Amino acid sequence: MKGILLAGGNGTRLQPMTNVVSKHLLPVYDKPMIYYPLSTLLLAGIREILLISTPASLPDYRRLLGDGEAFGVRITYLAQPSPDGIAQAFLLGRPFIGDDACCLILGDNLFYGNGMTQLLEDAGREAAEKDRAVVFGCYVNDPGRFGVLALDQDGKVADIEEKPKAPKSNYAVTGLYFYPPGVSDLASELRPSARNELEITSLNQLYLRQGRLSVRLLGRGYTWMDVGTADSLAQASAFVQMLHARQDAVIAAPEEIAYRKGWISKAELIASAEKYASSGYGAHLAEVAAGKIPY
Ligand code: G1P
Repeated sequence: MKGILLAGGNGTRLQPMTNVVSKHLLPVYDKPMIYYPLSTLLLAGIREILLISTPASLPDYRRLLGDGEAFGVRITYLAQPSPDGIAQAFLLGRPFIGDDACCLILGDNLFYGNGMTQLLEDAGREAAEKDRAVVFGCYVNDPGRFGVLALDQDGKVADIEEKPKAPKSNYAVTGLYFYPPGVSDLASELRPSARNELEITSLNQLYLRQGRLSVRLLGRGYTWMDVGTADSLAQASAFVQMLHARQDAVIAAPEEIAYRKGWISKAELIASAEKYASSGYGAHLAEVAAGKIPY
């Protein structure tokens, strides 16, 4: 299973914060936004990752994440010359994906919840072994901002609509997608939408029409946030800070995930802890290495 982290776009809804910094590098409480979706890929067990961003921002991501060694994974980088839609990732990423199944996560999507690892592993297996695409639906109060599930009378998914004016349900499609081998071929059949983008929703509609789309609903035990506006950025920071303050829980630390999965050694974890010796993040990694944080 390959993983694509999509961190493109110009972040215009967050200007002027994004004038010189890529949106997905803005802080969500104590770490750059990109750490959260990166951690989700790691939890899914994915170790070969392609990060796609704008030519201008790519060097910053490279400087931040390197070749992935600190996280026990391999990260490579690719420029998206112009923001022509999410599904373009599968055309640009064709050589990287090869004949494998592929997970795509949007760089501004934050997932949290007990059982996340199991959920991700199950979805990965379904895509890789059962030749099906898997997407996730989440109940929200403002579905019109997202891809939305249109459900029939029996509650079955009849369609997915991109930012509909009259949403047919409150279930938004999140920015986390698992696809079986061959996704680049299917993506190459897509034509640009009215807003001139290769829509991820159009790709999912193709799988739905072929009877090859699974939709899993995230229950109330999960938190999903699309961090695309100043308000949602502040809310995401408050959420992570609250977990930190109330439960002493540091979430989305990729070095910790890699260590717990056995992908990096204790010495490597300690090296990262020492690199960040002055911050709470470093202190957390040191505590994990010392066995002080319950799993
Ligand atoms: C994109 C997708 C949309 C999806 C959302 C999830 O929207 O087009 O279908 O629901 O991500 O974050 P965008 O964030 O590009 O507006």
